[in-house]
This record gives sequence, C-alpha cells and structure tokens, in this order.
Amino acid sequence: METVKIGLIGAGRIGKIHAENIARRTFGAQLTWVADAFEAAAKETANTYGAQATSDPRRVLDDKTVQAVVICSPTDLHAKQIEEAAQAGKDIFCEKPIDFDLVRIDAALNAVRQTGIRLQIGFNRRFDPSFDRAHQMIQGGRIGRPYLVRITSRDPKPPPPEYIKASGGLFADMTIHDFDMSRWIIGREVEEVFAFGSNLVAPEIEQLGDIDTAVVSLRYRGGVLGAIDNSRQTAYGYDQRVEVFGSEGTVMVGNRAPTQVTVGDKNGFQGDVPMYFFLERYEEAYRLEMRHFIECVREKKTPSVTGADGRAPIVLAHAAKRSMTEKRAIRIEG
Ligand SMILES: NC(=O)c1ccc[n+]([C@@H]2O[C@H](COP(=O)([O-])OP(=O)(O)OC[C@H]3O[C@@H](n4cnc5c(N)ncnc54)[C@H](O)[C@@H]3O)[C@@H](O)[C@H]2O)c1
Repeated sequence: METVKIGLIGAGRIGKIHAENIARRTFGAQLTWVADAFEAAAKETANTYGAQATSDPRRVLDDKTVQAVVICSPTDLHAKQIEEAAQAGKDIFCEKPIDFDLVRIDAALNAVRQTGIRLQIGFNRRFDPSFDRAHQMIQGGRIGRPYLVRITSRDPKPPPPEYIKASGGLFADMTIHDFDMSRWIIGREVEEVFAFGSNLVAPEIEQLGDIDTAVVSLRYRGGVLGAIDNSRQTAYGYDQRVEVFGSEGTVMVGNRAPTQVTVGDKNGFQGDVPMYFFLERYEEAYRLEMRHFIECVREKKTPSVTGADGRAPIVLAHAAKRSMTEKRAIRIEG
C-alpha cells in the first residue's frame, strides 16, 4: 500500500489529535511535516512523531513529496491556507469553519474547484459510529418519512474570553456542528430559521456581545421540522443527543459515559455522567474522519464532507444571528 505523506499546519489542541491519528493510528499514512507559527509547538509535535518542524507553512507546501495537508490553524487563516495549499496541488483536510465570511469561503472553494484537489471539512460528528448508524437507518427508510429532528448540544463549561472573542459567536462556533448534523442526518437542506438566544450562565460572554444559551427552530425542504438547543455550560459533562422522528418510528442517539456501570440501591439507579468533552466523546470520530480523508487521497475519491458542506452551516449561522437580532424567521435563499 502506498504511504500518503502528510503535513500538519497548526499544532494546537485539535492539531495534536490529528497528528496522533495520522502518525500512530492510520495505516499507510506518514506525518512528514508539522508547521506552527510558534516553532516550539511545531517542534514538540514533530519530535513526537519523527516529522520535520517549521514555523513557515510555505515549506510544507513547497515539498513535492507531501500529498496532503491538514489545516488546524486558527479559523481566520483557513480560507487563505486552503487557497495556498490548493495552488500547491495538495489535497486538504481543513478544520471547521472554513471562515465566517461567505466571500472568503467562496474564494477558497473556487481555488479548490479550479485546481481539482480534494477538500474535506472537519465535521467529525458524522464519523461517530452511533450517529453514522442512525444516519444509515434514516437514509435506508427504517423510520419511514422523517418528520422531526431534535438535537441537544451542550458544553460542560464556557471557553475563556479570549476564545469567545475569536469564535464568531455561538451560532458559528457551536451550533455549526448541529446545523451540519441536522442537514446530514435527514439529507435535507434548510429553508427557514428562527433563533432565540440568551445569557444565563456566563456574564463574561454577555460582556463580549455573545450569547451562551440558544434554541434554533428550522424548517427543511419537504416540511420537515427541526429544533436545536445549545448551552455553554452543564452540571454533568458534554451533552450530545439526537433524535429523528418519522412516520414509521424514531431513531435516538444518547450520551456516552466513560463506563456502562449502573449501581442500584433503595434510592434508585445511578450511572456515570457523560464523557467530559469533545476530545473524549469524539476520540473515535476524529480517528475515523482522518482515516476517511487518507483513504480518499490514496484512492483519489471525493471525501464525504465537502466544501459545500463547510459553507452551508455558515449560511445558517448568519441566518440564526439575524433571526435573533430581528426577532423574525429568516428564509434561506437558494
Ligand atoms: N472539529 C472539532 O471538533 C474542532 C475542535 C477544536 C477546534 N476546531 C477548530 O480547529 C481550529 C484550531 O482550533 P484549536 O482549538 O486547535 O486552536 P489552538 O489555538 O489550540 O491551535 C491553533 C494552532 O495554530 C497555530 N498557528 C497560529 N498561526 C499559525 C500560522 N500562520 N500557521 C500555522 N499555525 C499557526 C497556533 O500557534 C496554535 O498552535 C479552529 O478553527 C477550531 O474551530 C475544531
């Protein structure tokens, strides 16, 4: 089997996860470069996996032996780095979101189209085995015609103010994953969005002009309805639940706990709280999405999460913000 040589751009929180998955947990892949603006961060990850380190991503793009790059830099760099990598002929895995600005997203996607390289966006939840199974059941007609999709997505604790400032707001940072999940799991595009937002858990988020709690109602093609609820804080860990209800039944995916142990006594039955956060809950999904990307690069296939899938949730995030501000439903054009 041909070994796919990969360069990582951005070795922070998520970059380190992908580095480990490429170097240690995917057959036929080799991490050959790690680029990070902070050379010490690049060196630390590169040294762990026997790759070369640089503070300049251009060196990765100039290396003709590198077939693909994995972009995990801060969001405001993604669109530009996609364009540069496409022009260098590299296949690209890019973390979500591509950008917050649709003009910049379109320029990046245009570069991808013109160069014909492969682009996969990091919507990892699609690769979670439980969500994947639910998706297959729904697409296979197991619950008949979908009527409703409900998604609960709540973080265990708010991120620091520095993160909030650059996050693009709750809808673009957090609900983006749920917008993607809902479009994918029922296989329909959204036609209309109505959103409410509130500040209930973190005063510092309100001071920065963002919200920490939200409910988004959606209407999809064919009249299917959806409801997403988000919170930046829970008392019990990472809450990730999905239900799709249809004419012949319902499919539900619940939370995952670190163990499946339940203890019972005269006061009732009790189990573990859900896994703490996304790094634990989606560990498997991160590995499987990278495996899919590397397989697509090797076998010259189109990745299942495309650039268009990266663009659609940003359109919805903007619509949700507008709906919240203008207190009315927003129709999605096109
Ligand atoms: N799919 C997911 O579940 C998921 C989870 C976390 C983060 N993300 C996304 O991944 C991206 C990175 O998030 P993070 O939490 O890892 O951030 P981070 O701040 O931990 O890491 C970003 C890294 O990029 C480096 N960097 C800065 N400028 C650079 C440049 N010009 N070239 C190369 N590297 C540069 C920084 O030094 C840092 O090490 C964000 O867009 C975020 O939205 C996705």
